[in-house]
Amino acid sequence: MSLETFGPSDGLPLVLLHAFPLDSRMWQDVISELDDIRVVTLDAPGFGDSPSPRELADELGCPVAPSLKTYAEAIALTLTDAGVDRAVVAGLSMGGYAALEVAERHPGLLAGIGLLDTKAGTDGPEARANRIRVADQAVGAMGSRAVAPMVDAVLSPRTHRERPDVVATVRDWLATAPPNGVSWAQRAMAARPDRLAVLERLEVPGLVLRGTDDASSSMDDAEAMEHALHDGELVVVPRAGHLSAVEEPREVATALRSLYMRCR
Ligand code: MLT
Repeated sequence: MSLETFGPSDGLPLVLLHAFPLDSRMWQDVISELDDIRVVTLDAPGFGDSPSPRELADELGCPVAPSLKTYAEAIALTLTDAGVDRAVVAGLSMGGYAALEVAERHPGLLAGIGLLDTKAGTDGPEARANRIRVADQAVGAMGSRAVAPMVDAVLSPRTHRERPDVVATVRDWLATAPPNGVSWAQRAMAARPDRLAVLERLEVPGLVLRGTDDASSSMDDAEAMEHALHDGELVVVPRAGHLSAVEEPREVATALRSLYMRCR
């Protein structure tokens, strides 16, 4: 998997996992607020500079059927290869699903967990059917256009009104989303199990963060995760929608820094 490191070359790493269907560029403004922390970004299978999910599944001996297990195994192997045996792992939305999968499969890797604009629950039948429809469209005639409408839902009304630069950037990212990665990730997310019990077993500090206008995860989702954690903290980011790290990077960086300090 494609891994990039920022800041000091030693110290406990803070690993950031991006949202669907973006890549690690979404963290750039958060990372510039954390220049004293060793930050590691990873692109999901089929996104950014990472190999295709099929190549990764072959390399890891995972089933080729789309699954977050492949993503979690790839994260663990890539970090181990980079000499990382313990890290604070934080993910936004799909990145949060991946962090939960790492917590299930490799709990010893975690010094702490950050769950941003995400949820531990599964999809209902309608949401699952919608994912399969988008997955099919992405590898069909529509290609990346299958995810273009997401721009309306992932940003807060305020961002849409007052931040045309942010809207344009997210629009560009969506327009270049890789169709095979989109299709694989939608199917993998549709197949994900409920992971609340994983949080109940986790002993490390946790951050649950949600933009007040996140249309993809609810306050109930966030509170359920916070209550499940033994040492959880809930942070609500005003003015942000689903992509809180892009819309309000300074507030998100402050919350991640505070999680990081609790984990050292
Ligand atoms: C994301 O931002 O990663 C997506 O909203 C995840 C999802 O589709 O559940």
